[in-house]
Amino acid sequence: MAVPSAFIDELVARSDIVDVVSDYVSLTPKGGSFWGLCPFHGEKTASFHVLQDRQLYHCFGCGKGGGVLSFVMEVENLPFLDAARLLAKRAGMEFPEQDSNQADRRKRERLLAANKAAARYFHAQLHSPAGQEGLEYLRRRGLSKGTLTRFGLGFAPDSWDGLIHALGEQGFDKGVLLDTGLVVSNKKGGIYDRFRGRVMFPIIDLRGDVIGFGGRVMGEGTPKYLNSPDTSVFNKSRNLFALNLAKTTKLGRIVLTEGYMDTIALHQAGFDCAVASLGTALTADHAKLLSRFTKEVVICYDADEAGIQAANRAIPLLEKTGMKVRVLEVRGAKDPDEFIRTYGREAFARLLEQSENFVEYRLGQLQSKYDLGDPVKKTEFARAAAEMLSTLDSPVEREVYAGQVAETTGVGKDALLQEIKQARELHLRQAKKKQLRRDMTPMAQAQPRERQLRYENLRSARAEEGVLRLLMLDPSLEAESGGLEPEQFSSQHLGKIFRVLRERLRQGRPLQLGMLEGELEGEEVRLLAEILRQPEALEKGRQAMNDYCAVITAEYTKRNETDEAALLAARDRFQKKKSIGDGTP
Ligand code: CTP
Ligand code: MN
Repeated sequence: MAVPSAFIDELVARSDIVDVVSDYVSLTPKGGSFWGLCPFHGEKTASFHVLQDRQLYHCFGCGKGGGVLSFVMEVENLPFLDAARLLAKRAGMEFPEQDSNQADRRKRERLLAANKAAARYFHAQLHSPAGQEGLEYLRRRGLSKGTLTRFGLGFAPDSWDGLIHALGEQGFDKGVLLDTGLVVSNKKGGIYDRFRGRVMFPIIDLRGDVIGFGGRVMGEGTPKYLNSPDTSVFNKSRNLFALNLAKTTKLGRIVLTEGYMDTIALHQAGFDCAVASLGTALTADHAKLLSRFTKEVVICYDADEAGIQAANRAIPLLEKTGMKVRVLEVRGAKDPDEFIRTYGREAFARLLEQSENFVEYRLGQLQSKYDLGDPVKKTEFARAAAEMLSTLDSPVEREVYAGQVAETTGVGKDALLQEIKQARELHLRQAKKKQLRRDMTPMAQAQPRERQLRYENLRSARAEEGVLRLLMLDPSLEAESGGLEPEQFSSQHLGKIFRVLRERLRQGRPLQLGMLEGELEGEEVRLLAEILRQPEALEKGRQAMNDYCAVITAEYTKRNETDEAALLAARDRFQKKKSIGDGTP
């Protein structure tokens, strides 16, 4: 690992998990732990909890769990080292950077600082006399003062060196200015501002750093938009405008638009789930990025031919990541921004809902398969429609659409509702049966969620889990483990965790879930959190440790004996064959 593990230990020790989680989730103490709404999946009742004594979090709803570092990784969508950096900043600790990275990192930081200073400069200009034209333009386009601030919009005055001067005064040299792409060099080696006489849209990444800008002319003129070129911190095919805001939306989906103004208009109207690509076509990287934050994308592109084609190209990329994809058509307007301004937010909300519930669409699809001129087919359609409607959970919806189907088919509405009711009861019975079967098989119940972690020997695995739990809760119990070896574990993953724990104990280092997160894979951390969450009677810890070890060793011996027996049997068979083959008795 690139960071001394002692640093991680101290970092975790100084970062109380309840404290850190509270930055993101409002927690209420209840029954010895802290409860809140899970930040990783939408929910209305709290199934997310934090155990302070064990320094872990866990969600009963989505199964996520771990220590303080994996919480930050998960909630901020950062790789391990970046999460550690963030946590270090929070804890007021200096992160020990590697020398080789340090120069690069310093350069990157300098570039980001210049971008940030530029954003401040543009924003200040917007509210200065020089920016009056820009401010009027944006206000005329319906943006409120709050929106200007929220998006940090700005103005680049019509000057060749306004930015160069402002940043120069703050100590940024020519080199870093060129690196930002905000400044361009001419043939004679002089430099000038790239953006002049434009309203400015800063592009902010998931960490909150300004990575680039888009600038629009006011009124007519070409190019309409000018963007920062790709730089070492700005890659248009990997970033999305406003994702830094939309990533925490509670609306349960992300609306993908084509333009800065579309996304801003949607946010202003309360749809804080909007993002935009940066003037380039959607890429597979964009799709992957989005899939980290949502399960559903609503494509809301311009209503013209180009928009439809772009949507058609985006759909397969988005679907490939497993997300649900819908397309929302802004009829009667050229783009979402114009739609909201013309018809209002309610109208957009309705469109969004329609694109969600899909019932009419599915009914239409179903209907197209039946020739309603034929009375027999008509009845068949009614029956199929009833079956489909029986899957709707809302009684109101069932009622409404049953009425609709009754009208198109002439079948009585009551008869349809009766049919729907019967189908629902059947589904319910089937679901119950299935659940019962599941409950009856302890194997399935006791298995970890991740497929690759499945246990082959459940009896041994239970005991192995017990050993890990005891060690974590009371490291002194290692003395009771009587020479237990990782190789004796039936589960390779549990064995690995045991090896890591034992190694740390031998080095006299503390055992805390958060401290292990650099040494374990994500799914192993999750598994360990799950194990640690289970109750354990510590008063009888020694006895329990002995029992667990006995089970593991016994199962291990059994496995080896069966292996041996199998080997002997095989040798036996082989020799028999041989003796038949060569004719010797
Ligand atoms: N774009 C660009 N360069 C251009 C034109 C457009 O990079 N010369 C990008 C911008 O990111 C823009 C998006 O494509 O936001 C969509 O373009 P368009 O629909 O023309 O602009 P709108 O966002 O609708 O902006 P406005 O409403 O101000 O015209
Ligand atoms: Mn527009």
